[in-house]
Amino acid sequence: MNAALPKTEDREEIKKSIKKLLKKRNAILLAHNYEPPEIQDIADICGDSLELSIKASQTDADVIVFCGVHFMAETASILCPDKTILLPAANAGCPMADMITAEGLINKRKEMPGAVVISYVNTSADVKAESDICCTSANVIQVANSVPPKKPILMTPDRNLAQYALSRTGRDIRYWDGYCPIHNNLTVEQVLKVKKAHPGAPFLAHPECPPEILALADEIKSTSGILAYAAHSNKKEFIIGTEVGILHPLKKANPLKTFIPADSGMFCPDMKKIDLVQIQLALETLHPEVRVTENIRVRAKAAVERMLAVPAT
Ligand code: 13P
Ligand code: SF4
Repeated sequence: MNAALPKTEDREEIKKSIKKLLKKRNAILLAHNYEPPEIQDIADICGDSLELSIKASQTDADVIVFCGVHFMAETASILCPDKTILLPAANAGCPMADMITAEGLINKRKEMPGAVVISYVNTSADVKAESDICCTSANVIQVANSVPPKKPILMTPDRNLAQYALSRTGRDIRYWDGYCPIHNNLTVEQVLKVKKAHPGAPFLAHPECPPEILALADEIKSTSGILAYAAHSNKKEFIIGTEVGILHPLKKANPLKTFIPADSGMFCPDMKKIDLVQIQLALETLHPEVRVTENIRVRAKAAVERMLAVPAT
């Protein structure tokens, strides 16, 4: 986030200006569930990675302002080559996505001839282009089950998501040794401490958490899956095992329920890099733009579209 944020009344003016610019540019503002509250509050659509990819592919807007991180804006560019995709903070990246390169994947494939490569959407377009199919945290099980039986699977880059898929599908899944530093840091001791303080509160964990954490979870879900579960549950208190940005939409949608972070240190700095001033500037200048080169885009699109074709259940 920018160090010198304007004062509240100026921020209200900037929000109004953003609304006008969105109209003028025929633009849509998409925000991930981890984005800062005031960005989620002005977004046309908030969601998890899968929902945002689907919305990007369906919109008839000319410009998509993507409030998330670089791989998400790239996914929008892969699906919508005719649109201008803006990532208001060009340096909003994902450390997990940076743990694998296309070259690394090409070399790994050689060790597993015949394997189907499933890459998490948290990868660069270059890596997607070398993959057979993508997945998100919301559909990883369905995607793994869509691979022809007996075919070995190589999952990249998240070892935790891969081990979760392995445990749920029993498929022959090998994996790249990447991880999300934010989810991977959650410890058993910490979760047990919070569980002890809130007995009876279900523990909802994101599949980017390590296996020993998922073993303690009552539900394992994507960010939007956590939102949907909390909304429909008749429980009043929940322990949340994912990045703390999710607490805003949880509290907003469920004012009478209580949400306790499993660890309030689960903070992704990259998801907080975009601010209102940068959104306004991006809409004024149509910059910074994210555009995937055509040869990479076409191959990456095949992997993303194969994922989108997998039925949700
Ligand atoms: P989902 O919102 O798809 O669950 O993904 C979480 C994430 O890591 C985004 O960076
Ligand atoms: Fe990447 Fe983890 Fe941040 Fe998501 S929360 S953007 S996976 S570092």
